[in-house]
Formats: sequence, C-alpha cells, structure tokens
Amino acid sequence: MKILVTGGAGFIGGNFAHYMTNTYPEDQIVVLDALTYAGNLETLEPIMDKPNFKFVKGDIRDRAFIDDLFAKEKFDVVVNFAAESHVDRSIENPGLFVETNVMGVQVLLDVSLKYGVKRYHQVSTDEVYGDLPLDRKDLMFTEDTPLHTSSPYSASKASADLLVLAYHRTFKLPVTISRCSNNYGPYHFPEKLIPLMISRALADESLPVYGKGENVRDWLHVHDHCTAIDLVIRKGREGEVYNIGGHNERTNLEVVKTILKQLGKPESLIHFVTDRPGHDLRYAIDPTKIENELGWKPVYNFDTGIKQTIEWYLNNKTWWENIISGEYQDYYAKMYKDRQ
Ligand code: NAD
Ligand code: DAU
Repeated sequence: MKILVTGGAGFIGGNFAHYMTNTYPEDQIVVLDALTYAGNLETLEPIMDKPNFKFVKGDIRDRAFIDDLFAKEKFDVVVNFAAESHVDRSIENPGLFVETNVMGVQVLLDVSLKYGVKRYHQVSTDEVYGDLPLDRKDLMFTEDTPLHTSSPYSASKASADLLVLAYHRTFKLPVTISRCSNNYGPYHFPEKLIPLMISRALADESLPVYGKGENVRDWLHVHDHCTAIDLVIRKGREGEVYNIGGHNERTNLEVVKTILKQLGKPESLIHFVTDRPGHDLRYAIDPTKIENELGWKPVYNFDTGIKQTIEWYLNNKTWWENIISGEYQDYYAKMYKDRQ
C-alpha cells in the first residue's frame, strides 16, 4: 500500500509516520506537510532515510500541487492530520482555521475522488461534540452525540467532518473518521498544556493555568491513537465514525501538579491566569465502538504514560529547545538544500 500522511511533520502525524514506517516495511509512507510553525522536520529525522519513507513539502490548500502529487504517486490511502490544531490560535485568527481545516480538506476530498483513493481517513477530534458538565461523570461522548462546537478550531473540524461524510453519501468516496481525545507523548509542540508545563517548569518559569484549573481533559498516549487509526484504515467500515479515548480524565490542575511532582519542582510555580474564552469544561470519550468492532485497546494508562513522556522531554531537550529558540525553522533549509 502507498499511504499519504498529511501533516506528518506535526505531533500526531509524526508519531503515526514513525509507527507506520517501522511497523509496515512493505508499505510506502509519504508525508506531506506545509511546515507551518507547528511542523518540524526534526521529528521525522529517525525515519527520514528509511527506504519506505518519503517527505514532500506542500500545502493541502494548493489544489494544483495536490492534484499533481496524487497523479504522480497514486496513493491507496490518505490519512489527513494536516490542520491548524491550537484552540488559542483559532481565537486569534479564525480565518486560517477555515482555510486549512475546511478548504484544505475539500481539496483532499476532491483529489481523492478523482484519483480513486481506496480509503480517505479524516483525523478529527472529540472537540466537535462540545463539552460536558463537570458534575455529570456519567456522561460521555459517543459517535451519536450531536455536534455542538465552541471554538473556531472545533467548528472548523466539525465542518470538515460533515464534508467528509457528504463526499461519502453523495460521491461514494470510501471514507472513515476518527474522533480522539487529548493526546500526549513524544514530539508534542510546546504550546500545548503538557509540553508547555514541562518546558517552563524545567526553566523555573511560572506555569499559566487557565481559570481555576478545574477543566477536565481525557488524555490518550499518542501511540494508542496511532494503533487505533491503523486499525480504522485497515478494518473500519466505510462511512463510519470511530471515537478514540482511554478513560483517563484529569483536571488541568492535576496534570500540572503531576508534572511538578515528577520534576521535583514546587507548586508555587503555578499561576492562575485569565480563562480561555469559551473554554470547554470537560471532555470524555466512550470508545466502546472501536473496542468492540475493531478490537482496539490502549496500552498506556495516564500514570505510566505521563512518566515516560516527561522522561522523553528530559532526554530530548534539543528537540524542544530548538523549537523554543526558533532554530527548528532553519532545519528544512539546512537538510534540503542539496536534495531539491
Ligand atoms: P500539530 O499542530 O502538531 O500538527 C499539524 C501539522 O499540520 C503540522 O506539521 C503543520 O505543519 C501541518 N499543516 C498545517 N497546515 C497545513 C497545510 N495547509 N498543508 C499541509 N500541512 C499543514 O497538530 P496535532 O496535534 O499533531 O494534530 C494532528 C491532527 O489531529 C489535527 O487534525 C487535529 O485536529 C487532530 N487531533 C489532535 C489532538 C491532540 O490532542 N493534539 C486530538 C485529537 C485530534
Ligand atoms: O481534545 C482534543 C483536542 O485537544 C485537539 O483537538 C486539539 O488539537 C488539541 O490542541 C487539544 O485541545 P485543548 O484545547 O484541550 O489542548 P491544550 O493543550 O491547548 O489545553 C489543554 C487544557 O489546558 C485546556 O483546558 C486549556 C488548558 N491550558 C492550556 C494552555 C496552553 C492551560 O490551562 N494553560 C495553558 O497555557
């Protein structure tokens, strides 16, 4: 199989590219990424020279470029991770989120249809379901929960999901969608809660916790997200949505305190700051469908996963220090000056 992984220089797409390249040497993995501020080629360095891996720089919004790429490469499967992914940035610049997360997806759908892709998989998010109250632990998102978005980010992801399902119903494009809860693990860009808190705590800087820190997220190790997507593209039913999550709900304050404890840093670093506008209270995924239908099971629980993740950040300081200093953005020029 030849698999296109869009957004593969980002956090989850990068982990997925590693997983697929290493697990399936007989498959060809092509990563396409525009290398926005969130895309980092250093994430792909460990697999860059593998014979079944290739990196292409390009933008999913660029129809002519994407059409040429599909004509040339004849992909069997497309897995779309490419997106603007940070809720706070979507509050600053909603338009970019519509352009990438909606219009970019439409380009991918059109081209997948034109070139007869056998499976288009859309990587979506639990944020399309909105949020749950803090005092109703019995409630969880199922695939039938109505879409009810809060931020420009989640609205753009829900719009994309609807387009994907429309291309299935109207044009019979073979699609699947997965909606996952918050991921954590290696190569997570340090603007998101967990890597931000680890990097700032290590520098003895204050840790900005929004509101009272009582919002709840349902954390899944990125490796478990990758195995779930792999199962969905191979065994998932066309036109179906699969929720992915591992029942690891934590308040933000619990997460931050766990990080501080493991790093041996004082809780006095915590600073409560103005809340995120429209801040979703609680996410919780019911993964029964993917467990029963596809036999998926996560291997990490949060307590062991977060320990390993903190260790990864301690052992891979250059990766995130280059991001913080902006040096990673010179990497493409350095690596590719002789390759083009
Ligand atoms: P990320 O921001 O780390 O990576 C996104 C990648 O997409 C970057 O490499 C970026 O360069 C690339 N990209 C952005 N615009 C592009 C464009 N126009 N053309 C080509 N490439 C482009 O994001 P992430 O956290 O890895 O999330 C990946 C996907 O998973 C997103 O679709 C996101 O909505 C979804 N998701 C994320 C989480 C999470 O917890 N991070 C959970 C559920 C779903
Ligand atoms: O649920 C899946 C979603 O998880 C994905 O679709 C998004 O792409 C991904 O970014 C993530 O969204 P969140 O908004 O939940 O993640 P973030 O890391 O930005 O924030 C996690 C929680 O921590 C949230 O309640 C806001 C809070 N927070 C975040 C930051 C960056 C803080 O309290 N302080 C911070 O500095």
